[in-house]
Amino acid sequence: MSSLSTILVTGGAGFIGSHACVELLDHGYELIVVDDYSNSTPQVFARVERIADRFVGAVYELDLRDRRALSAVFDRHSVDAVVHFAALKAVGESTRMPIEYYDTNVGGTTSLLRAMHEHGVHQMVFSSSCSLYGDAGRGPLGEATPARPTNPYAASKWACEQILADVCHRIPEFTVLSLRYFNPVGAHPSGLLGEDPSGTPDNLMPYLAQVAVGRRHRLHVFGGDYATPDGTAIRDYLHVMDTVQAHRVALDHLADGPGMHTYNLGLGKGRSVLEVVAAFGEACGRPLPYDIVSRRPGDVTELVADATAVAQAWGWQPTRDLAHMCRDAWRFQQLNPSGYAGSARQPNR
Ligand code: NAD
Ligand code: WQD
Repeated sequence: MSSLSTILVTGGAGFIGSHACVELLDHGYELIVVDDYSNSTPQVFARVERIADRFVGAVYELDLRDRRALSAVFDRHSVDAVVHFAALKAVGESTRMPIEYYDTNVGGTTSLLRAMHEHGVHQMVFSSSCSLYGDAGRGPLGEATPARPTNPYAASKWACEQILADVCHRIPEFTVLSLRYFNPVGAHPSGLLGEDPSGTPDNLMPYLAQVAVGRRHRLHVFGGDYATPDGTAIRDYLHVMDTVQAHRVALDHLADGPGMHTYNLGLGKGRSVLEVVAAFGEACGRPLPYDIVSRRPGDVTELVADATAVAQAWGWQPTRDLAHMCRDAWRFQQLNPSGYAGSARQPNR
């Protein structure tokens, strides 16, 4: 454990945030969690506590943009650092609700920065996204690749990074580690935590999991005419457990020095949609039905990380391959065919 012991986790009820809570509890951290449950449920904390065999800590239902409520959390607890997951993340929705996305993602981040600064807290790990690279072309993308966001979600993440860099420049006490995730998927090996999208899943792996469990008929593969070996688009899938381990390692490196540092989180290995379909079929023991349909607007041919910088800086590398991601996602889906709905509710804390 780093010298920081009390971590405020924003968005801690979400897909990545809930796995991060387990990882940090397992490593002895004390947690303060804030979430407005706009895309999650407090039911997840019973599962986090079951896995970690510890209480989560103080959990607050609040919108980060509620500055008074957020400030009261910092008044009440002595926070050493913040891991900031809370955001809206659906690319398609962001094109229809751009103001909501900028307000939540950028406004939530500036509200958080203000509360942190006012309370003498200056260390943050920030959830950024490969989507800010836009259609950057083929081959592994390093962190110096110019940002070219093509939708409001990606633009909001890029705006946050620029604000965080400027704040670090002007207020030298600040340290921010911005982690640009590629495609986090999979689930906790216990099968208790996973990705539980509401409504029809936008993303490939949760959609496939619902086909495998019989909740959806067949997968629509968006585009079979890309300039790739099998004609389907290529992404860099990363296990959510590797993703959250990187955050735990990041906490050890917040003390390395002030300023903002940006790292890609990916395997550095591209997989096509059809390769993922085949891997999930292996995991669930039967081939999964699909139709190739037209491309999804806004999708790019390939997004693969050059993930060497984080390995060089911290000696950290992901260890779980695509088969592992599919096995764990399938276990979660089998054990929770309707997601978290119906699981025991925790008393309010
Ligand atoms: P998620 O939606 O499961 O989790 C986000 C959490 O933030 C949810 O629990 C939601 O209720 C909460 N939240 C949203 N707005 C809030 C607000 N105003 N105040 C308080 N809480 C709020 O998403 P996730 O997949 O766990 O993503 C976590 C972070 O990682 C996000 O910042 C996302 O943009 C980023 N990211 C995700 C992916 C991915 O593919 N999942 C990839 C790259 C980056
Ligand atoms: C993967 C591939 C689809 C669903 C998204 C966000 C990005 C980042 C990661 C947050 C693509 C294809 C999908 C389906 C399909 N998130 N697909 N049928 O779009 O790479 O990235 O998550 O920061 O910002 O955009 O992920 O899982 O939606 O798609 O064929 O039903 O699977 O076209 O090629 P994506 P995804």
